[in-house]
Amino acid sequence: MTRPLGRVDWPPAPITTERLVLRASEARDRAAFIDLLASPEVHTYLGGPRPRDELDRAVPEVPGRQPGLFVIDFDGAMIGMVKLDRHDAESPGHIRPDIGEAELGYLFLPEAWGRGYAAEACAAALDWFADALPGTSVVLRTQTANERSMRLAARLGFTEVERYEAYDAEQWFGVWSPVTPSG
Ligand SMILES: CC(C)(COP(=O)(O)OP(=O)(O)OC[C@H]1O[C@@H](n2cnc3c(N)ncnc32)[C@H](O)[C@@H]1OP(=O)(O)O)[C@@H](O)C(=O)NCCC(=O)NCCS
Repeated sequence: MTRPLGRVDWPPAPITTERLVLRASEARDRAAFIDLLASPEVHTYLGGPRPRDELDRAVPEVPGRQPGLFVIDFDGAMIGMVKLDRHDAESPGHIRPDIGEAELGYLFLPEAWGRGYAAEACAAALDWFADALPGTSVVLRTQTANERSMRLAARLGFTEVERYEAYDAEQWFGVWSPVTPSG
């Protein structure tokens, strides 16, 4: 299980980008959360989706209420989520707490792919993070076969640290570091 960020004020005021709003989740997002978690397309490289009837029972009235989890809102409706989780010695799987304290994750509904929304939302979330926890690096793990995710990671400025094998697939481990103001 991933764990939410500590040491941040949450929720922040909604963040507005050119086309999107990043905000904490609300009860009205529940159906979109279930759509995201039940989507086979979204979970192609994430171990497969969860059954919809199980999600209907398990997803709380206000899903995803945790520090670092942004609902991405386009025109008043949720199209995806961007999450910054804690990355430390207790995090699951292949970890590198020596190079980053937080981990970025992103899930968008397939109908929202291919328009640059994920890049726009993740860049804004990383900006927020750079203010919330100055000087802290962020790591990212994704399957190399997940080409959309690999392109997004590069677009956001993540650089490769290493590749490793897990879940019978090659995984990519990257890091993003905030730009430190000079002078
Ligand atoms: C990974 C994921 C978020 C990427 O979504 P995406 O829409 O491809 O990512 P971006 O926001 O970077 O969009 C880039 C695409 O939009 C296109 N685009 C169209 N209009 C654009 C605009 N105005 N600005 C920027 N890009 C635009 C780009 O050309 C690019 O297309 P291309 O990849 O075919 O070259 C999405 O595929 C997803 O949710 N996958 C399932 C979850 C997952 O695997 N997560 C990874 C685990 S961390």
